[in-house]
Amino acid sequence: MINRQCPHLPERSGRITGPACSRLVAHLAEILAVGEALEHALALLEGGDVVAIPTETVYGLAGDATNGVAVARIFEAKGRPRFNPLIAHVADRAMADRIAVFDPLSAKLAEAFWPGPLTLVLPHRADSGIHPLATAGLDTIALRMPRGFGGELIARLGRPLAAPSANSSGRISGTTAGAVAADLGDRIKLVVDGGATPVGLESTIVKVEHGELRLLRPGGIGAEEIEAVAGAKLLRGASGIEAPGMLASHYAPGAAMRLNVDKIAGGEALLAFGGKRAAGWEQAIALRNLSEAGDLREAASNLFAFMQALDRVGAATIAVEPIPFEGLGEAINDRLARAAAPRDKIG
Ligand code: TXA
Ligand code: MG
Repeated sequence: MINRQCPHLPERSGRITGPACSRLVAHLAEILAVGEALEHALALLEGGDVVAIPTETVYGLAGDATNGVAVARIFEAKGRPRFNPLIAHVADRAMADRIAVFDPLSAKLAEAFWPGPLTLVLPHRADSGIHPLATAGLDTIALRMPRGFGGELIARLGRPLAAPSANSSGRISGTTAGAVAADLGDRIKLVVDGGATPVGLESTIVKVEHGELRLLRPGGIGAEEIEAVAGAKLLRGASGIEAPGMLASHYAPGAAMRLNVDKIAGGEALLAFGGKRAAGWEQAIALRNLSEAGDLREAASNLFAFMQALDRVGAATIAVEPIPFEGLGEAINDRLARAAAPRDKIG
């Protein structure tokens, strides 16, 4: 429950805005707009500190991937139970080539989708300079080239940034600076505010294995788009390593989630999709529609913020209308299934 005027405070703290809010939260993260944050963010990263930054997918909790202390601070701030491998974010292909070895198919995908919401898992060069804590000692590495502020920041730093989604372990990924500040604000110094992230879901992760392309995590680029460029089907299923985004329960709101509902029970909050409502929708204590028009891109961009908004209403259960599986619908259904999974598996 956050206060809209002052995201560091609980909802019912009254009207505390602007300077009063900044004074109150002086010990918490500063929130700076992208236009004025670059130098401050650089100084923190140079010093081995972490910074929350906007990317086109979700906000990332970024640290210098070559600095073990910085990487350790990422895990500490997120409260991750284990040291899971992180994505290394690069500014350009040259930086990517110094870190990993590209096969022709991965190169083709990078050419088509970078910068953008695609992460490639590739063989890791031994002399890449990436700290082993960031790769969990694996001989592969996940690489991504983000659009916008992140890319600019990495180019200026001249080193890759390790950046998992900017949320405490087990919580929903932050898609606004306010959500990030409310979750991590007492543990980090700076949140760079780039507004709501346009894609709203984490990147799609793929890996070329024995000449075949495997989908490790559905995400911000639909599988069909990748298949069209690759000229091959994406394989699904067992991926070798257990990724935290792959744990059954990873995107967990406080409320229970009931998926694919065709009938709403009294007292439930409703996460709707499209123009046609499930039976009994009038009984819902709160309603958000991911996309009135049935547009899966719009739905993806609204997903996390709407789940959080409905959670804040305090309903015991969030009922979710069916979402089609095509395009970004695969990733949306994946995140919903994880949010609905038993909580004892939180990662
Ligand atoms: O959109 C995104 O990808 C966001 C933004 C901030 O870039 N980042 C993100 O990072 O979602 P994170 O750490 O929450 O998820 C990264 C995923 C994890 O599931 C991790 O296990 C997996 O990538 N991963 C990292 N290295 C891997 C590797 N070598 N092989 C397989 N999976 C790997
Ligand atoms: Mg995450």
